[in-house]
Amino acid sequence: MPEARYQIAVFPGDGTGPEVVREGLKVLSTLGENGPAPWKATEYPGGGQYYLARGREWEPEAESAALAADAILLGAVGWPGATLPNGDIAGRALVLGLRERLDLFANVRPCRLYPGVTHRISGSYQEVWTPSHVDMVFVRENTEDLYTPARGRLRRAGETEVVIDTRVITRKGTERIVRFAYELARERPRGAPEDGVKRVTCVDKSNVLEGCRYFRETFDRFGADFPEIERDYAYVDAFTQWLVRNPEHYNVVVAPNMMGDIVTDLAAVLQGGMGFAAGGNIGDGHAMFEPIHGSSPKHAGRNQVNPFATFFAVEQMLRWLGRTKADRGLLGQADRLEAAIAGVLAAGSARTYDQGGTTTTREAGDRVVDALRGERR
Ligand code: IPM
Ligand code: MG
Repeated sequence: MPEARYQIAVFPGDGTGPEVVREGLKVLSTLGENGPAPWKATEYPGGGQYYLARGREWEPEAESAALAADAILLGAVGWPGATLPNGDIAGRALVLGLRERLDLFANVRPCRLYPGVTHRISGSYQEVWTPSHVDMVFVRENTEDLYTPARGRLRRAGETEVVIDTRVITRKGTERIVRFAYELARERPRGAPEDGVKRVTCVDKSNVLEGCRYFRETFDRFGADFPEIERDYAYVDAFTQWLVRNPEHYNVVVAPNMMGDIVTDLAAVLQGGMGFAAGGNIGDGHAMFEPIHGSSPKHAGRNQVNPFATFFAVEQMLRWLGRTKADRGLLGQADRLEAAIAGVLAAGSARTYDQGGTTTTREAGDRVVDALRGERR
């Protein structure tokens, strides 16, 4: 057998991670059924549960495979009681560690409500948010800000007196994320649902924080190179209500790391919940894709969680690989997968518990597999 062109390192991780990743890999191998698949997906254990059992987060082979892979697919990490001696979550090496080491500076989270998916907000908003209102992408800075490991604790006589997390905003980090957001807005076929305008919204707290003032200045400075893109601004506190009230206004949203972390979970509600939310951690030449719901320990082992976020993560991964390697075959596979997912969602034939249904995790995977196979007949 010829060597596969693309090596995909897969980390199912903790809790429900392995359950959704199993379905993701099932869908990926169905995509590859037509001919020799150009990718090879290899699974490695690791995370918080692994740490509890083995005393380390992962094996050296797993770590080298992650660093060398063409793309990484991650389930979720984090498990109750799995904490490193320094207080960090065990499994950190696989998420924050890889973001830092591979310099995955852009956290890209599409937020789109597909026909057939319902969201949890009741009342009149139900009519307000339809699929035609929610179609945006968040671009979150992913390497600095409050996540920079520059922190400390001052103790006196055993008592904690002062704790400091340093918020680091650099020129390099800011310029590259802002440019990324504008380029993405330029590439995306559609503008904002409201008016079709290609728009980038800068979310920050520049009325108070110096780092955010610099973030916004940089946003303006780079905006001059993208005259076709409308510049839009929101303080993060006001943004949370506008996002919920008028999601149709947003197209591409750029934010510093911590604020981006918070608003993307809120945004997931608009797309039907965390069960549909996927993200890519993207750098120059490296990337890691994940459903963003986490390991949800209370649902683990029950075959009931929603695997669609993982299907979207696989789609995003194929699209990124296709673009980065200039491989049209992969872009075609990403389109096929998206069409299959959209078809299943529109038919309402795979509703997991979070959608008020009884479809299991495995059955939801089977429906997408059926859709992919049916399409060839
Ligand atoms: C996310 C998660 C992570 C983050 C956690 C698991 C460290 O919340 O990807 O949004 O804070 O970035
Ligand atoms: Mg988060």
